[in-house]
Amino acid sequence: MADILEVEITSLGAQGDGVGDADGTPVFVPFTMPGDIVKAAVKDKRRNGLYTELLDVISPSVQRQEPPCQHFGACGGCQLQFMNDAVYSSWVRERASMALAHHGFTDVPVLDPAISPRASRRRVSLKALKTVSGVVLGFNERQSHKVVNLKACPVTRAELTSLFDPLRKVLGATLAQAMAANVHMTLTATGVDMMIDAPMSLDLAARERLVEFVNAHDIASLHWQEQGFLDPVAIRREPVMDFGGVHVPLPPAAFIQATDEGEAALAGAVVAACEGYGRVADLFSGIGTFTFPLARGHQVMAAEGAKSALDALKAGVSTATGLRQVITRHRDLFRQPISAAELDKIDAVVFDPPRAGAAAQVAEIAKSTVKRVVAVSCNPNTFSRDARTLVDGGYTLDSVLPVDQFLWSPHLELVGVFTRV
Ligand SMILES: C[S@@+](CC[C@H](N)C(=O)[O-])C[C@H]1O[C@@H](n2cnc3c(N)ncnc32)[C@H](O)[C@@H]1O
Repeated sequence: MADILEVEITSLGAQGDGVGDADGTPVFVPFTMPGDIVKAAVKDKRRNGLYTELLDVISPSVQRQEPPCQHFGACGGCQLQFMNDAVYSSWVRERASMALAHHGFTDVPVLDPAISPRASRRRVSLKALKTVSGVVLGFNERQSHKVVNLKACPVTRAELTSLFDPLRKVLGATLAQAMAANVHMTLTATGVDMMIDAPMSLDLAARERLVEFVNAHDIASLHWQEQGFLDPVAIRREPVMDFGGVHVPLPPAAFIQATDEGEAALAGAVVAACEGYGRVADLFSGIGTFTFPLARGHQVMAAEGAKSALDALKAGVSTATGLRQVITRHRDLFRQPISAAELDKIDAVVFDPPRAGAAAQVAEIAKSTVKRVVAVSCNPNTFSRDARTLVDGGYTLDSVLPVDQFLWSPHLELVGVFTRV
């Protein structure tokens, strides 16, 4: 087989690569879409097809658009921004359908996707590297450890991108030559919560410089982390998440949804699916993204494995008004899932596990008498596997809502609604 191919792209794969065909073998070409005719160099021959590098778009699809980001191509994020909105949106839906079909769900209604807009990402993790010509700050280049020095990031909130240049300056004065650091930023209801992870401790001058930076940019809090040791450099305001008026302190490294819009779409779907059901269990509750909106109308049992997240949730409960009863369970739900017998007192279960899914917990739900189950997942493959267990246990999968919080990337969240028949 020739190592340089001319291919017509006819579909999109699950990871967002365009897919064509060479003598009956699938050919995957990054940065391409259906309608393109391209020239590509074969890089890797795998069991499922040929993986290539794009050399040239000979004839572009009419549905291409000018990529909005100046770093497109070099930066490892947002590889699908050359598709127009209509094509991207239909691909998001198709991606959900493909994962479901892989597990035999071919006739489940997949709803219109909720896609977060540009400039909505409220949490970013950046790499920083001090070089002779200043600090390089940004995301990794595609398939590389090199860092793209970001001038702009069209998917991220302006409150975070406006800190890129000031960060370069303060890190330039603080890091040693050739030193690398990671910068984690989250936009909370009280301002930016920042953690800088670097292999050095701070002397007095560095500490004062960082405090000045924090004050100048009205940053809520800054921690410096060295070898796992968290140094609270400046805590001007406690970082807090606002879940419909309930204020929850955000512990370092606790999970939150990536955009306000994504959180609203997920929570809205969860609350709507639980309407009319009495007691609800919110499993893998985190700091209470779904617990609090649910607790406006239901008694809720929130179960979570991270103690700091559950403590934050309890702190939110203690200051909130207008909630029904919230009880909490600190549990490793992989090793000790809430049992079918415990679940029989519950009317609806919401579960939102990490990428690995919730196999052990779902096996218990499948044996229970719970009438309504809502699965929220950041992994369409483990979602479909867990959905199969529920359906084999007597549930129907009524609908699936795709929620995309990582615009122009293949990451996708799903909300599946199940009913016991
Ligand atoms: C995808 S997050 C969802 C959190 C929350 N539902 C939200 O939307 O913010 C998954 C949560 O599962 C928790 N988790 C991970 N492994 C767990 C386990 N074995 N047992 C219980 N909780 C676990 C994490 O701490 C995290 O809070």
